[in-house]
Amino acid sequence: MGLLEGKVAIVSGSGRGIGREFALCLAIEGAAVVVNDIGATLDGESTTETPAQSVVAEIEALGGRAVANADSVTDFDGAARIVQSAIDAFGRVDILVNNAGIVRDKTLLKMDESDYDSVIGVHQKGTFNLTRHAAVHMKAQEYGRIINITSSAGLRGNFGQTNYGAAKAAIMGMTFVWALELGRYGITVNAVAPAGATRMTASLYEKSGKEVPAEENAALNAPLVAFLASEAAAHVNGQLLGRTEYAYTLFQHPKQIGWMWRDGGWSAAQIAEDFDKCLGQHLQPVGMVMPKSMAK
Ligand SMILES: NC(=O)c1ccc[n+]([C@@H]2O[C@H](COP(=O)([O-])OP(=O)(O)OC[C@H]3O[C@@H](n4cnc5c(N)ncnc54)[C@H](O)[C@@H]3O)[C@@H](O)[C@H]2O)c1
Repeated sequence: MGLLEGKVAIVSGSGRGIGREFALCLAIEGAAVVVNDIGATLDGESTTETPAQSVVAEIEALGGRAVANADSVTDFDGAARIVQSAIDAFGRVDILVNNAGIVRDKTLLKMDESDYDSVIGVHQKGTFNLTRHAAVHMKAQEYGRIINITSSAGLRGNFGQTNYGAAKAAIMGMTFVWALELGRYGITVNAVAPAGATRMTASLYEKSGKEVPAEENAALNAPLVAFLASEAAAHVNGQLLGRTEYAYTLFQHPKQIGWMWRDGGWSAAQIAEDFDKCLGQHLQPVGMVMPKSMAK
């Protein structure tokens, strides 16, 4: 008996990579799954590929239940059709994993408007679109599990990822807001920063010149998402979790770590005089921390 028997899940962008592992794992745990994927290239261009269908076939071969959907999460009405496909095929929607993603990495001064808009469209707007439609059903049934896929690029910054970092940080903001708003209806909303050797990180692994280590397997993310998607995680809401190698991690929420006070307020010159004595002692680094296996 799996952790998700009788539940219905939607996983966006689950025709490949990390999302495919989520779909397979949720199905193995007993959920019926809508495998959504438009079959895009890494930078979001359309292709004739139908990866969602292949993953449905894989799930069925394992004895699970799944349907494919090829609507884009970037389209508000398309997102409504993705949710409707869960209702039509399985009668409800309990679990939503906002995973679909593309990248168009460039430094700020080389990034054009379409690079920015397209990445924001898939990650940020796509997460809003699907959640907006799915939450209506979850509220009515007073039960839901939403897992938003973010990235340390949005939490700590990463060189060459203005668009992606902005979108992933926005996903964190929405996660906190929705945890407050939807928690009242038995719906939990959490975020996961995964890791894994997929086409999205292929160039990173190539640069390291080493074989992809086993601990970078994209499948290692999926059990954590299956747990968060289950009734066993009812008390986990508004949290940010991650995966590094064989570890699952819990991130601290941003909070003030230093204070400087002056009765009546400060002038700029007074701040300049006192800054290093107070806040300046606590300045923090930016940038992503590499997994141990990549840094060796
Ligand atoms: N790979 C990593 O190490 C890593 C790290 C942090 C976060 N992430 C995040 O994990 C998620 C999955 O990434 P991945 O590495 O598996 O990438 P991937 O490219 O292997 O898979 C992404 C899938 O999303 C689909 N997709 C793209 N645009 C879509 C749209 N508009 N509608 C529906 N589907 C769409 C693609 O066709 C593709 O199959 C992304 O949100 C990514 O930002 C990945």
